Amino acid sequence: MTEQAQKPFLYVVVCAAGIAADVGRLISAAQERHWDVGVIATPVAMGGFFDTAAVEARTGRPVRSAWRTPADPRPFPPPDAVVVAPATFNTVNKWAAGIADTLALGTLCEAAGLDVPIAVLPCVAGALAAHPAYRDSLERLRGMGVRFGDAYTGEDRPDGGRPDFAWERALDLL
Ligand SMILES: Cc1cc2nc3c(=O)[nH]c(=O)nc-3n(C[C@H](O)[C@H](O)[C@H](O)COP(=O)(O)O)c2cc1C
Repeated sequence: MTEQAQKPFLYVVVCAAGIAADVGRLISAAQERHWDVGVIATPVAMGGFFDTAAVEARTGRPVRSAWRTPADPRPFPPPDAVVVAPATFNTVNKWAAGIADTLALGTLCEAAGLDVPIAVLPCVAGALAAHPAYRDSLERLRGMGVRFGDAYTGEDRPDGGRPDFAWERALDLL
């Protein structure tokens, strides 16, 4: 029997934005492109922003949010690439500032230092995106080689519809 080639491993970091409810679309698209996927969510995102059971069923792995204990084995292999989608104002600013007080942030800070490709789809309202700290954060992260999709505010259009969130763009950016 021939051994199956190991697929590259993608970390999907999920932050607490409303659009996170649709993260299954990103996971399916990544799997179609032959990524093996593990999800790391912020602690706030774990509080009802997406269906964790559905994501676990889809990826075949637990959703990670807390640090493992030193005695525990690493639950995921090291990443070949990382996608942050949706990325919140809070997480983008903390990441750029080098804060690592959640597993998601620690993973992002480390991945940048390991030269792992990172793609980010922000979901940040216009009023927050105008904050100078956010603009500085984007500049700093871009300077570290982090790739960003287009701005997305998460706000409804005048006709009541919501523009599509370009989930697959994250994969194109890698
Ligand atoms: C229903 C709801 C939707 C939210 N949507 C967004 C959003 O689209 N973008 C954003 O930056 N923050 C949003 N927030 C605020 C974040 O959840 C909040 O800043 C949180 O601290 C982010 O934590 P995290 O970055 O660790 O995930 C939303 C909050 C709620 C309650």
